[in-house]
Amino acid sequence: MLDQSNELAAWDRDHFFHPSTHMGTHARGESPTRVIAGGEGVTIWDNNGRKSIDAFAGLYCVNVGYGRQKISDAIAAQAKNLAYYHAYVGHGTEASITLSKMIIDRAPQGMSRVYFGLSGSDANETNIKLIWYYNNVLGRPEKKKIISRWRGYHGSGVMTGSLTGLDLFHNAFDLPRAPILHTEAPYYFRRADRSMSEEQFSQHCADKLEEMILAEGPDTVAAFIGEPILGTGGIVPPPALYWEKIQAVLNKYDVLLVADEVVTGFGRL
Ligand SMILES: Cc1ncc(COP(=O)(O)O)c(C=O)c1O
Repeated sequence: MLDQSNELAAWDRDHFFHPSTHMGTHARGESPTRVIAGGEGVTIWDNNGRKSIDAFAGLYCVNVGYGRQKISDAIAAQAKNLAYYHAYVGHGTEASITLSKMIIDRAPQGMSRVYFGLSGSDANETNIKLIWYYNNVLGRPEKKKIISRWRGYHGSGVMTGSLTGLDLFHNAFDLPRAPILHTEAPYYFRRADRSMSEEQFSQHCADKLEEMILAEGPDTVAAFIGEPILGTGGIVPPPALYWEKIQAVLNKYDVLLVADEVVTGFGRL
């Protein structure tokens, strides 16, 4: 009889389809299975009792730490009272309406409504639809291209994987799809021209963006998407004045800016 951890590892190899994991290697037991059994604060432990500091906060999402009694009590109370209701055709719940209000109260000026999703990928799918819808409503059906950056990460679906600017997420999946384009990564350390100052490099990124908008035709470019700080692509803060210079180009050609704050928003930094 297998002990429980070996049994779990066997079930894992045989039945669990892990993302970003080589299936053959894993199925043969050549890559490790780690079963996380619990967490408290910033610490997690596995079923062998080995503890680690979870410096990634799950996948950037356990931003208040593990084992928060008050939160698990609130989840349990809500599950007992009303575990689910949808939001279509004007339906809401006390929880979803109150949360919308609380988020807007804390959001930067100019924000008025919250659209709930289940993941960063589906949030960005919604962003793409909103951008296309917006231009359709304005009678500009040709203004649909979205410019992203190399090294950006915006999800792993077909369209959001296309927004992502990392080869690993494109190769073998026939991505990126039109009408998604990629421009220069805001990665000063890896700049091609070592003589550039940070500010000059930001100007270079803005110039490359403008060049692309002009080459494609401003009437066809709808939006630019970027993470305020590059996340999966290296945890790289932007060079000095990067966003100011990018925003100026976007304003000039009436191109929307989508700030993908999946990692950087909501008090996570
Ligand atoms: C900036 C950014 N956007 C989108 C996503 C996709 O989020 P999800 O994995 O919840 O689909 C991520 C995931 O880490 C992300 O870092």
